[in-house]
Amino acid sequence: MNSASSAPATAKPFVRSLRGAIHERPCFWLMRQAGRYLPEYRATRAQAKGFVDLCLRPDLACEITLQPLRRYGMDAAILFSDILMVPYGLGQGLEFREGEGPVLDAARDKAAIARLEAGFQDFDARVAPVYETVRRVAANLPDTTALIGFAGAPWTVATYMVEGGSSKDFANVRLLAYRDRPAFQALIDLIVRATTGYLKRQIAAGAEALQLFDTWAGVLPEDEYAHWVIEPVRRIVATLASEHPDIPVIFFPKGSGTLYETAAAIPGISALGIDTAVPLAFARHLQSKIVVQGNLDPIVLAAGGDALERAARRILDTLGAGPFVFNLGHGVIPPTPPENVARLAAIVRDWRAAR
Ligand code: CP3
Repeated sequence: MNSASSAPATAKPFVRSLRGAIHERPCFWLMRQAGRYLPEYRATRAQAKGFVDLCLRPDLACEITLQPLRRYGMDAAILFSDILMVPYGLGQGLEFREGEGPVLDAARDKAAIARLEAGFQDFDARVAPVYETVRRVAANLPDTTALIGFAGAPWTVATYMVEGGSSKDFANVRLLAYRDRPAFQALIDLIVRATTGYLKRQIAAGAEALQLFDTWAGVLPEDEYAHWVIEPVRRIVATLASEHPDIPVIFFPKGSGTLYETAAAIPGISALGIDTAVPLAFARHLQSKIVVQGNLDPIVLAAGGDALERAARRILDTLGAGPFVFNLGHGVIPPTPPENVARLAAIVRDWRAAR
């Protein structure tokens, strides 16, 4: 691979690409690259008592992190964990129910938020197994594969904490933000504090890049977006950039539409994850400001065939010659045939920019 990069020449190709290096073909990884579409994931998961237990078992979580790399040789591994480990670390009750998704003890008032603030003192002890997973993965990665640590961005994590799980309309969390701004601000501030420390500990354990997942960034009006999406992420990234300027951060504010432009301007962000709905012409415009990561439709990956070939090539041909990391626009879905992922890996690996 050839490159021109501001990162040290010794950094792995993936890390250099997040610094703007352009390789012969783009680096790639896939959100939810480890998960239920893989039979080996389902077998390993069966050894744990439940999904939370799985995230707290470094032996199993390390094995799951490495599984997709063995099959497809992505340029980066992503720590196997979940964004809800931060609420768990704060002592919020968390359970994953089969077919229902996550269920948390909803925190909807000052008193509940105060209890979570008190839980902060035990945070690192509660999530310590996650740091151990990072150490194990870092020690077992192929030489040229980078390790991505991650957390949810404060707004998205807060939606789960206030709603008590997944939501369709986000009414409870938005009501709290409008009705009792100081209480909701206290919750966001707590998540900022916990998440900053959590990511610093992941770096100390061996994470070489970070991604902040803001899955529900797209549900807010623009001034609320500036306050609850952009501002908390800006604070986290400012601290990380001052203490770890060598660790690139990818921000994925899914569904941001034209507000991706605002997200791209956060100081210290290295790359912007874009969702499937972002037009490629707009993505190209964003590329003039920042490294772009995305945005293949996870459904076309599940579909496979000619549709997959066409969609992947169109993204590569439009964005592949610039600062770019190939990925999906959201996570791999469980019904995805594993052979489609192999096909996609081959398409990306064999692609070259037209001269
Ligand atoms: O990308 C990876 O491979 C790393 C692992 C990872 C998981 N979750 C594993 C997981 C990552 C990065 C996440 C992030 C996450 N978790 C997000 C942000 C990204 C996104 O997908 O929008 C969110 C919103 C969550 C919260 C969450 N976790 C939900 C709503 C659910 C249930 C719904 C579902 O898709 O299953 C989970 C569970 C979860 N997290 C699973 C996996 C592999 C499935 C659990 C199982 O095996 O049953």
